[in-house]
Amino acid sequence: MPEDINISTVRDSFRESLASAKSLQELDEIRVKFTGKKGTLTQLLRSLGKLPPEIRKSTGQELNTLRDEIEQSLELTGKKIRDTENENQEFSQRIDVTLPSKGRKSGAFHPVLQTMHEIADIMQGLGYSVASGPEIEEDYYNFECLNVPAWHPARDMQDTFYFPDGTLLRTHTSPVQIRSMLKYGAPLRIVCPGKVYRRDNDTTHSPMFNQMEGLLVDKNVPFSVMKGTMSEMLNAFFGKSLRYRFRASYFPFTEPSMELDIECVECSGHNPHCRVCHGTGWLEVAGMGMVHPNVIRAGKIDPDEFNGFAFGIGLDRMAMLKYGIGDLRLLFDGNVSYFMSGFGGAESC
Ligand code: PHE
Repeated sequence: MPEDINISTVRDSFRESLASAKSLQELDEIRVKFTGKKGTLTQLLRSLGKLPPEIRKSTGQELNTLRDEIEQSLELTGKKIRDTENENQEFSQRIDVTLPSKGRKSGAFHPVLQTMHEIADIMQGLGYSVASGPEIEEDYYNFECLNVPAWHPARDMQDTFYFPDGTLLRTHTSPVQIRSMLKYGAPLRIVCPGKVYRRDNDTTHSPMFNQMEGLLVDKNVPFSVMKGTMSEMLNAFFGKSLRYRFRASYFPFTEPSMELDIECVECSGHNPHCRVCHGTGWLEVAGMGMVHPNVIRAGKIDPDEFNGFAFGIGLDRMAMLKYGIGDLRLLFDGNVSYFMSGFGGAESC
């Protein structure tokens, strides 16, 4: 046995190294240092043979005990380190279900479509069904059978896009009145939302815009039902009880005809500089009237037995009023940030 190495020094040195071991790799280094081929303990065991016979046996026993201790301690510490590493790994991978979520941007309906759904919903609650008709329409349905013959000056009210074959882009949803009467007969209650087209383009007009037609045909329909239906619908849509103004007007397909104004949803008539009503206190929202007997007849229903009322409401205008959108053209623009700027219209960005 080398002079400078004694068993208890080796034991102390082992215990000290073991106490500071933090990883399996460090532990392996300790194992090599003490019990590897050139390890301290291995060398001691090899040198046993050179010892005087009288101490060889007891030293051998002592070394064996130390070897057992080293092996057991290495195994025990190895297990501890593995356990701790597993625990740490588990902890770092644990999902904290109490953390706030990252959130997801949800899509939304276009304000016009939302308006369309809301009004259709209200009208369905009043017993109306939702009908539809083609956007490329025949002159007959768009004008002729709505009491607007070719010579009629009212055709100028709705500057029309014609196709070379004489068909046209419907200028209003009113042709669906005839199509529905022909299809379903009387009694009848329908609304028809949809796109319509006119040769118009400025801050308050777009060549394409959205209307909702309404038609009720029944026996002895009084004028008051039309007024009641319109106020019911608009109060429900705006969520408040508004004031209404019915103005005498003219449409070839209704008699009498009216235009419906509602009190300004922005200022209720209290702001002479209001950007929405321009100080008038009123907003024009719909055309309507009692259906002309000629129109009922064109729908193959007997006007002596049935009468009714019809209305056409501008859905874009409704959306602008409800959601505070200042410029009609923004509704058809792709930049959604415009919608944030309210009645003031688009802000440069
Ligand atoms: N079609 C008319 C328009 O677009 C509106 C309307 C519909 C008027 C039904 C009366 C009855 O201006």
